[in-house]
Amino acid sequence: MTMIALTVNTRDISADVEPRTHLADFLRDKLNLTGTHLGCEHGVCGACTLLLDDAPARSCITYAVACHGARVTTIEGLDDDEITTELRAAFAREHALQCGYCTPGMLVSARDLVLRMPSADERDIRVGMSGNLCRCTGYVGIVRAIRSVIEARRQRGVASIVGAGRTLLGPVGSGHGNMSDSRARVAAKTTVGQPPATSDSAISIEDFSPEHVFEQSFVVLHRPADVFDFFGNIPAVAACLPGASLSGVSTPERTEGTMQVRLGPIAARFKGAIRVERDPAILSGRIVGVGTDQRSRSFTRSEIRYRLVPDEQGGGTRVLLSIGYSLRGMLAQFARPGLVSNLTAAITADFARNADRALSGLPSDGGACDNASLNFVALLGNSMRHKLRRFFRGRRRGENE
Ligand code: FES
Ligand code: FES
Repeated sequence: MTMIALTVNTRDISADVEPRTHLADFLRDKLNLTGTHLGCEHGVCGACTLLLDDAPARSCITYAVACHGARVTTIEGLDDDEITTELRAAFAREHALQCGYCTPGMLVSARDLVLRMPSADERDIRVGMSGNLCRCTGYVGIVRAIRSVIEARRQRGVASIVGAGRTLLGPVGSGHGNMSDSRARVAAKTTVGQPPATSDSAISIEDFSPEHVFEQSFVVLHRPADVFDFFGNIPAVAACLPGASLSGVSTPERTEGTMQVRLGPIAARFKGAIRVERDPAILSGRIVGVGTDQRSRSFTRSEIRYRLVPDEQGGGTRVLLSIGYSLRGMLAQFARPGLVSNLTAAITADFARNADRALSGLPSDGGACDNASLNFVALLGNSMRHKLRRFFRGRRRGENE
């Protein structure tokens, strides 16, 4: 747990939070400020928008620990705010809400437009509000409401403020928080999932019970004995695995290296080691690994068990995989089992294709995962595509009713 001190709606707050807790959960669960809504939790829908050091921010993708020293204003803190009061009245007048789920985030973003926009152009308002999704209204009322408030204020001689008065560049919240202090606190107080020391000479790889396990399989058009030999060649296997690179001396039983992953704006580089066990009698093996990403302070343990069986249909070999892992630290916030399972399926597909080519003496041809790093973005895209499809399906249903 990490102690943070921040101001929420003008109240000084200090609390212990887990490094993985995002700001919206912190506000809702610890401070009971439930006006901040959560929709997608991926930084897409805008339902969780609030003000961080007076600038709109997505609280679902902002860590509470990163807000140490910052000033947070939620929709509850805008009760007496002049612009928000005008916007609330305009939203009610123009029927700019139905279920109201998106409305707190809409009001916070709209307030920023009212502050900044010199005139009320519909297109600019739509662009400015494009980070806030509404599944009920069709946006017409929302745009009309915001436009009416901007027009009324300009007619009353209230000028816009360039950049809403912001003078600091950089991510919102970065102007007040003393990050070095915050990091020192994280280092001093983090007690969950403490990674082992990762000095290159002695990364210990203990057995463990994975928290999440899933099964995958793929087929390569080569004999099981050849595939088993290939799996014993760690540098060759690593060359087929997107994002993997070896460091130091590698033996058939153990090697050290790095694995790069990218999750939207977050790039992680897990440095660690693997231990390999093989049983030629039943063409099976087990790989146990540990890795630490210093930047996100994340730590993972993983275990891959494989078994090679003849493929009945197409000839060749079916590789049966059981993949288990545990993850601690900031990345655990994003690495939900469904996402990791999708990611692993994409990696497995790339690995299978690369391995098939390597066994045929051909060079790797890349794949859906960028070969330089495992890229979660495509998977995040898949997941978001499903969510958005559901969203629009729901919306069409609402319109037809
Ligand atoms: Fe934060 Fe959707 S819940 S952007
Ligand atoms: Fe916008 Fe319902 S009013 S989501």
